[in-house]
Amino acid sequence: MQLVILFKGIGVKKINISDKFNLFTQEWTPKVLAESNGQLVKIAKGSGELVWHKHDNEDELFIVFKGQLTLQLRGGDVVLNEGEMYVVPKGVEHCPKALPDTHFMMIEPSSTAHTGDLDSEVTVSFEEQDWI
Ligand code: NI
Repeated sequence: MQLVILFKGIGVKKINISDKFNLFTQEWTPKVLAESNGQLVKIAKGSGELVWHKHDNEDELFIVFKGQLTLQLRGGDVVLNEGEMYVVPKGVEHCPKALPDTHFMMIEPSSTAHTGDLDSEVTVSFEEQDWI
């Protein structure tokens, strides 16, 4: 009986990541799937380049589900293919670049700004990042 009440409280709906990728087409526009211990789990699609930026206070974890995501760093490129991941350490400048229709996930604190210290026309503010 207690279990039922607990489940009602937290919700038992699982998340199918592939299905979530089918819900949107915008590129470089993170969508939030879940929150865990203050970290937001986000998915995004990309092609071409975003912008150079850094996050002074947050590491940024990228996991590629489809396509190829290159994390351009000042010291060289990190090329991520499907099933690969990388953590950009806090304070490290990066510029993500993706092959057409690349799908990836990011896990980062809710305080992490989309393009870090840079506010550009491609920046998606926290308020504009939808839960899906
Ligand atoms: Ni970033």
